Amino acid sequence: MIKLDTRLKMAADEVRQGKKVVDIGTDHAYLPAYLIENNICPSAIAADIGKGPLENAKKVVSTSKELSDRIELRLSDGLKEIESDETDDIVIAGMGGILISEILTAAPWVKDETKRLILQPMSHAEDVRRYLCENGFEIIKEKACTDGKHNYIIIVAEFRNKINDKNEAFYYKGLIQYDKSSDAQKYHQSRMASLIKKRDALKNAGQDVNDIEKIING
Ligand SMILES: C[S@@+](CC[C@H](N)C(=O)[O-])C[C@H]1O[C@@H](n2cnc3c(N)ncnc32)[C@H](O)[C@@H]1O
Repeated sequence: MIKLDTRLKMAADEVRQGKKVVDIGTDHAYLPAYLIENNICPSAIAADIGKGPLENAKKVVSTSKELSDRIELRLSDGLKEIESDETDDIVIAGMGGILISEILTAAPWVKDETKRLILQPMSHAEDVRRYLCENGFEIIKEKACTDGKHNYIIIVAEFRNKINDKNEAFYYKGLIQYDKSSDAQKYHQSRMASLIKKRDALKNAGQDVNDIEKIING
């Protein structure tokens, strides 16, 4: 049985029971294998842009008939080789926020009220939130966890075709700023510390700090 690390378990916990899932950038396919073994999903597509990662996935999936019957491996740049009706929940974990938002932008079919996005940016979470808010999604949940020295965030969103009323301060701070758990506060404080460091560097270089001040104080 697959045992997920804390970060991937946090993502797996947001996949809805009984829904088809695609895991983009799957590498070893640990997440789809866990979802199948625990009867959370009836089927999964484990997708990756690289043949090497898909070989890793094949090793895991071929360890049991259940996994090989229910997980399809697919070479795909982002969501380009995935059809809308092949999935309900879309997981993109372990990539930078800029790449995640580019992958979503290239697949307009994700704007569908029946689908759920489970996104785990390793950096630039603000780009993910900006994409979501500007494209009619509602961020329904954010969670943080710590594994070893690292602190991670997950962003869960669903399409509502809703007008964006958020601003840059929200894109940087997200819902996680309101979560009082120690992992969430650790994540939030570390993002705030980076912004303050950036503001001080700009100030020392004699540059305009108005925009970054608005984010810090917003
Ligand atoms: C750091 S691993 C993350 C693996 C797993 N999702 C996790 O979170 O542990 C990133 C994976 O994303 C894949 N990847 C990078 N860009 C991609 C893209 N545009 N489309 C699909 N997969 C991509 C890489 O090949 C690699 O296997």
